[in-house]
Amino acid sequence: MIEVKNVHFAYGERPILTDVSFKVDSDESVVVMGPSGSGKSTILRLILGLECPQQGEIIIDGQNICAMKERQKQEIRKKIGMVFQDGALFDSLSVWENVGFYLLEHTDMPLDEIGERAVEMLGFVGLDAEEIVDKLPEQLSGGMQRRVAIGRTLLSTDPRVMLYDEPTTGLDPQSTENVLGLIKKLNVEKQISTIVVTHQIADAISIASRFIVIVEGSVAFDGSLDELRDSTDKKVREFLNPFRESFNEVTERKFI
Ligand SMILES: Nc1ncnc2c1ncn2[C@@H]1O[C@H](COP(=O)(O)OP(=O)(O)O)[C@@H](O)[C@H]1O
Ligand SMILES: [Mg+2]
Repeated sequence: MIEVKNVHFAYGERPILTDVSFKVDSDESVVVMGPSGSGKSTILRLILGLECPQQGEIIIDGQNICAMKERQKQEIRKKIGMVFQDGALFDSLSVWENVGFYLLEHTDMPLDEIGERAVEMLGFVGLDAEEIVDKLPEQLSGGMQRRVAIGRTLLSTDPRVMLYDEPTTGLDPQSTENVLGLIKKLNVEKQISTIVVTHQIADAISIASRFIVIVEGSVAFDGSLDELRDSTDKKVREFLNPFRESFNEVTERKFI
């Protein structure tokens, strides 16, 4: 479904990614971890075709996204849903207008039908639609905002792939659980390939079966949880060390 192939990427003179390669199959759920500034969000931007690598290719569904014309890019982007780090809701629009934003802007669908679709979607993401449809984003908790953002993405694209950038950062434990549950549900029930960027190790373990660790712009690790725990790679261990406690809390075999 997605293949990142020998990607080198620099902002101007400054190298950010050096020779990054990995594949994500249809239905797969993969977590990308790594220290702050290691290039995780940049990888998501490359997959969306918002940036193009100086070397290497990003292949989506067999096609090189950077070799496409703008119109083709827009078509392929419909298959990719992105949930940005802060949710990026429109402050001055109500919840239903946020969720129905794409339909409002890009289709002739009647308003009441868009409203119905929005309400249905709010239910799907686990929110009490009646309670919140007419509220403004600022009147919702962080976790609810994140779920509204996921709902908006689902109603604007019909994604085969979902990309989430730090979806639980700043959320309390209950909201975190709700958002992770939703990410899992979309992956399992709708068979949407999923890439989650996070540095919350416990979250990573609860949603993914495969882990990629990016350190200083290259792939320091790509494998299962057991392999991650047993990794002797110096960079990987340095990254994991501060998370030792949460790692051991959520897994049976201890990391030492
Ligand atoms: N638009 C930009 N122009 C120049 N440098 C950038 C830009 N966006 C990000 N960077 C730099 O690229 C590096 C990787 O950023 P990012 O991918 O956001 O890291 P992460 O998501 O892993 O924290 C950081 O050092 C950041 O400062
Ligand atoms: Mg980031």
